[in-house]
Amino acid sequence: MNGCNSNSDGQDFEGEDIASVYESIQPEWPDEVRRAIADSLDQNASPGVGHHFLLDVGCGGGRLTKVLADDFDGVLGIDISESMLKVAGKNVTNPKVKFQQVYDDILPVESSSADVVTCGISFQYLNTPVFLAECDRILVDGGILACLVYVPNILTSLDGKPIANYSTESSRWQHICREFHIDCGVDEAVREIHLTRYEAIFNALKNPTKHWRHFAKRDHKYTIRNMLEYMSSIAGYRNKTYPDPTKDPLNIFHAGLIAIFRDAGLEGNDDTEFIVTFEYSAMVIKETKQFGIA
Ligand SMILES: C[S@@+](CC[C@H](N)C(=O)[O-])C[C@H]1O[C@@H](n2cnc3c(N)ncnc32)[C@H](O)[C@@H]1O
Repeated sequence: MNGCNSNSDGQDFEGEDIASVYESIQPEWPDEVRRAIADSLDQNASPGVGHHFLLDVGCGGGRLTKVLADDFDGVLGIDISESMLKVAGKNVTNPKVKFQQVYDDILPVESSSADVVTCGISFQYLNTPVFLAECDRILVDGGILACLVYVPNILTSLDGKPIANYSTESSRWQHICREFHIDCGVDEAVREIHLTRYEAIFNALKNPTKHWRHFAKRDHKYTIRNMLEYMSSIAGYRNKTYPDPTKDPLNIFHAGLIAIFRDAGLEGNDDTEFIVTFEYSAMVIKETKQFGIA
């Protein structure tokens, strides 16, 4: 594997265990994602652009690929991780969809051949200038790049009780999530999407067509135990060991979560439920041969 053009060497998502845990624990992509992509594509549609070919970059286990596949004539999902692609092969049986392993950010398709390129929470792993230049090359005129992301950033209820001080509790929740990523030593570019999405990159993009689509919100119920499983499935935590339990990011996160319950007058145990609202957004750019960043 060469990996020289990429922010990731794919190791974070390698291994049967991480691939299947990740797939079982991450929330589904909601159906609204199809409308978000279709509306972006159809808005001021350029001649020759259609629902012909979709390239899903960093497709992982094919969760997003599967939801979008019916809207295109042909679909290719690519990923650096062999393990994730194995899961994708099992999850997605639609014959229109093909999967392929890649080793860097050079996209394995012909120039001017894709109507849509999607990245489902994978854009942060790519080398931005290399990837954007590749999008310039492979997208048809007027085709779109959609970088999709979901962030579990609102704490909505604790143990069945709506949160009284919504913004304070949500910002405490966001704080412990951010600290978790920092404690894991997760690269800043990767970490920040959990709170700011792709804001810094979005601001630096030169392309005048850039825009956001905030297309869905979904409540997800977790027990404290499930949430710890979710956090421990995040790439960056999994591949390290923490011999000192007081420095284990998961233990620190756990203590922070219990403190939020305690300060709300609740006793959180492993089975206590709470609701987190995920916000789903897409950063969309239309091909105008100005894909670079400032
Ligand atoms: C957070 S997962 C998202 C997977 C999938 N898109 C989804 O929505 O579930 C990120 C994926 O990006 C892949 N990835 C990381 N670096 C990559 C690269 N340079 N090229 C292609 N895929 C890459 C990882 O292997 C992983 O499967």
